[in-house]
Formats: sequence, structure tokens, C-alpha cells
Amino acid sequence: MSLRIAVVKGDGIGPEVIPEAQKILEHFLTDADFFEVELGLAKWEKTGSACSPDDIRELKGADAIIFGAVTTPPDPDYRSVLLQIRHELDLYANLRPIRSLRPNPDGSFVDMMIVRENTEGLYSGIEEIGTERSTTLRVVTKAGSRRIAEKACSLVLERDRNHQLVIGYKGNVLKSDLLFRDTCSEVASSFGIQTKAVFIDALCLDVLQHPNNYDVIVTTNMFGDILSDVCGYLTGGLGMLPSANIGDTHAFFEPVHGSAPDIAGKGIANPVAAVRSAAMMLEYFGMKQQACLVEESIADLINSGVCTPDLGGCESTSSFGSRLIAVVCKKEERKI
Ligand code: NAI
Ligand code: MG
Repeated sequence: MSLRIAVVKGDGIGPEVIPEAQKILEHFLTDADFFEVELGLAKWEKTGSACSPDDIRELKGADAIIFGAVTTPPDPDYRSVLLQIRHELDLYANLRPIRSLRPNPDGSFVDMMIVRENTEGLYSGIEEIGTERSTTLRVVTKAGSRRIAEKACSLVLERDRNHQLVIGYKGNVLKSDLLFRDTCSEVASSFGIQTKAVFIDALCLDVLQHPNNYDVIVTTNMFGDILSDVCGYLTGGLGMLPSANIGDTHAFFEPVHGSAPDIAGKGIANPVAAVRSAAMMLEYFGMKQQACLVEESIADLINSGVCTPDLGGCESTSSFGSRLIAVVCKKEERKI
């Protein structure tokens, strides 16, 4: 049976970058069946709902989902579409590779993986909002920490680099983080992996100063969200960072960036984050070679100055996407 891929363009630059990612998927997944699901602000304006139970059902029916970005509607009762999807599909592991395509001045490349717990922490969705006092419950469970630690440890082994897992936490202030740290350490020792627990604020600076000291970093939900945007600095900005949201039964691929209303509609958004997210989907389907080919093709273009304005170039979103497909095809021909 052919794969069923849900395509969610969303809002802002989502509908600009996702077609470029879809071109790559269609190129490699020739038998797949692509179907669109509309979510986000535009849908909320039309129907009063940014993501309905029917939409969730459709997403659950897909083998994988490629997603652009959504804008937060101006509604006090609005529940984040992404939080809803991550909870409903139990996408507990948010994998955010931080890989530079341009060499550093010393010739090295940044290559680390942020493994962010994606269903609890400060994004539990458990909130009491008042006019005098508002609270959000930060949830850390042993089971939630264990499964994300297991994911992180298997990535440490797969990447086979320094066999150390860094745990980003803030246990000096947030006692809930001690459960997270200790569970991650327990799991890591059962995998034979050493751990180093680092306070998240210090970690944000150290990853920028010494990125090559890092391989896999596991952390809680909001810390992972912030840390990955910080790491955008190492790779050329938010237009470069892909991500995968993985559960035991569903997989959802999206750029780290949002809907970027400041540049939406201008045709200048960098599609690389979305395309790399598509490449992560290929890898999820066991097509590692094809995913590498996409990465190499993006690197070739960017290193020869072919890029969108955020990286100092003058390509449009779609012209970059077209040139990318051309490079991918050329590389394939050479390999045959
Ligand atoms: P953002 O990621 O949309 O933009 C931050 C900055 O990065 C902007 O200056 C933007 O122009 C730039 N940027 C982002 N992606 C780019 C790309 N592909 N190419 C070139 N430049 C790019 O974050 P912001 O401004 O905080 O949020 C805007 C909206 O997006 C909000 O409504 C927010 O709720 C939503 N959002 C949605 C996310 C999602 O759907 N996964 C994630 C983050 C924010
Ligand atoms: Mg973010």
C-alpha cells in the first residue's frame, strides 16, 4: 500500500515553504498519496476553529505529516494547534538537529541533536488564567522522562560520537527537574552512556561558545524550544532548522520557525528548514541515502552563494526550491 502523507501548509510563510518541501517528497516518494489538511489562523477565521476533531482524525490517518507553521489566533480561549496535535498524536520526542552546512572558520562543522520532551513540562496545557493571578502547571513524570531519555540514548549510540549525553535542566530552582535529571541519568547508565547535567541558562551560552563539545542534548519542553532557537545562530538562522516530532505511532515533520508574518507574502522565506524537515521524513522511512543527498545538495547551493536573503543571497523561495531539485537530479544521475 502506498504511503499517505498529510500536508499542512498553515499560515504566513507556511504556504510558501511547504510546496518546496513537497517537491522533494514527491521526487523521492513517487507512489505516495499526498493530501492537504487545513489548520491555523486562516481556518479559525473561516470556521471559528483552528484545528477540529476531524482534522486530528485525518492527521492520525497519515503515515507522516509535513507541516509549515501556524499563526496564533487572537483568541483568549485558543488552544495551541501544535500542543493539541502533539498531545493527541502523542508525539513525545521533538528531534531538532543543529547541523551547519557552511564550515566554521576552523574548518569544523556544528553537528548536534537537541532531544526535547514534547508532551509535558511547561507546555502541559494545564493553566488557570485569571485577572489577578495566572498559573501554568509544569509537569515532569518519571514515565515521560524515561521515554525521552531512551530516545536520546538510542540517538547517542546511533550517532556513535563521544557517547556522552548532556542533560539540560534547572534543578537548582525547579525541583521537578531533579526527577528529569535523575531519570535521564538512570536510563543513560542502563545504556552504558555517561551523562553531564548542565543548567540550561549556562548551557545556552556554552553551546554557542563551544558547539563542538556537544553531541546529543536532552531537555524538557520549553527549555528545548528556547535552546533550539538559540542554536539557530550556529547554522545561519531559523530558516535553516528542521525538526521531527516522533511518537510510537505517528510522525510529524516541521521547520523550527514560525509563520514569520514580517516576511510572509514576499516570496523571500528560506525554504531550507522545511526541505530539511522533508529530508528527516525520508530518513524516518529508511531512506537515509536520499536524505543525505538532499542535505548535500542544499550545502552545495548555499556554499556557492545560491540562497535566500536571510543568508545574504537573492533567490526567492521558489527559485531556490527549483534550483535545489535540479541539483538533486544531477547528483542522482552522477550516482547511477
Ligand atoms: P518566527 O519563527 O515566525 O520568526 C522569527 C524571525 O525569524 C522573524 O524575523 C522571521 O522573519 C525570521 N524567519 C523565520 N523563519 C524564516 C525563514 N524560513 N526564512 C527567513 N526568515 C525566517 O517566530 P515569531 O515571529 O516569534 O512568531 C510568528 C508567529 O509564528 C506567531 O504567531 C507564533 O505563535 C507562530 N509560531 C508558530 C510556530 C509553529 O507553527 N511551529 C513556531 C513558532 C512560532
Ligand atoms: Mg520555538
